[in-house]
Amino acid sequence: VSENLIDTFDRQHTYLRISLTERCNLRCTYCMPEEGVPLTQSQQLLTTDEILTLAELFVRQGVTKIRLTGGEPTVRPDITKIIQGIGQLKSQGLQSLGITTNGVALKRKLPDFYDAGLDSLNVSLDTLDPAMFQIMTRRKGFDKVMGALDEAIKLGVPNVKINCVIMRGVNDDQVLDFVTLTKTMPVRVRFIEYMPFDGNRWKKEKLVPYRELVERIETSFGTKMMKCKDDAHDTTKYYQLPGHIGTVGFITSMTDHFCHTCNRIRITADGNIKVCLFGNAEVSLRDILRKKQSMDGAYSEQELLHVIGAAVKKKKRQHAGMFELASRKNRAMILIGG
Ligand code: GTP
Ligand code: 5AD
Ligand code: SF4
Repeated sequence: VSENLIDTFDRQHTYLRISLTERCNLRCTYCMPEEGVPLTQSQQLLTTDEILTLAELFVRQGVTKIRLTGGEPTVRPDITKIIQGIGQLKSQGLQSLGITTNGVALKRKLPDFYDAGLDSLNVSLDTLDPAMFQIMTRRKGFDKVMGALDEAIKLGVPNVKINCVIMRGVNDDQVLDFVTLTKTMPVRVRFIEYMPFDGNRWKKEKLVPYRELVERIETSFGTKMMKCKDDAHDTTKYYQLPGHIGTVGFITSMTDHFCHTCNRIRITADGNIKVCLFGNAEVSLRDILRKKQSMDGAYSEQELLHVIGAAVKKKKRQHAGMFELASRKNRAMILIGG
């Protein structure tokens, strides 16, 4: 991996998350404020070509994994083209291409994504109860999400995961049903600790620490879970119940952060590089791509690499802790992409 992607704590950033849009077809309470967020003008968002240019550049620098996020990535009309373009980088060093989606508009598009090289699918689903789905997302769509999950399994998409943000008093009663789902469904269900972002009304009381969930699951199922072996840079601690074909994981960003193994950098839909989910230092890559050099009309790759390298070198050792984060200015989650 290139020196540009190594930070001062020797972390190698080989995982790039690209947000494709600020729009979403749901309105999840933990992700965006009721009134919505001011959207960036569309000319200021990265174009298809700019996204593919950056993806190619980052793969040349040593990125081996790309995940597309949003907003909701499937609402972007050129998503299939983007996946096809990035999929071609698999012959140039890219090893994994994933998306994180709410699944509502996914089913019909999925076969093309899969054909183009998509090998990891994370579907956000916080409840198995259709009525609760409508409360949490402020929209309908539960059956569509379940349909997309079935389609993914039918197609044989590897690495299908369900992301489930747990909020106390809202959907924490759903945990056992999700665990039961792993008995028959070959998926990884991941319970995510509720994190503070602008406008999401985070309160410590609503956070359910993962250790509490482990205890609840083991008590209720009357058995200890088996610990699985996690990848070095995983956000998740995985477990399995005896006899279940799927697994259960915990993303413990708040009570046991994993910053020391962080290999992730982000590009926002408006083209900023963001080196930490919770860091608000951002620099525009879009502006460099659009600043044509007078000589040959092309952007300066050297300048781009310089800015990327400098941003990575500024990355902090770890996030500031949940209470500090709750009072600090950041983007709303929908404008970061997770
Ligand atoms: P995999 O590629 O499947 O490992 O996915 P992922 O966990 O990297 O990504 P996903 O988009 O599914 O995100 C799941 C949850 O993990 C979301 O709540 C993200 O905000 C959170 N997450 C992802 N990357 C980071 C990170 O670098 N730091 C922290 N604190 N949380 C992260
Ligand atoms: N805390 C934790 N996870 C969140 N996500 C969105 N908002 C939050 C939050 N406040 C999750 C989504 C999606 C992933 C990208 O981030 O559910 O699965
Ligand atoms: Fe990496 Fe920042 Fe997430 Fe920590 S909080 S794991 S440093 S992105």
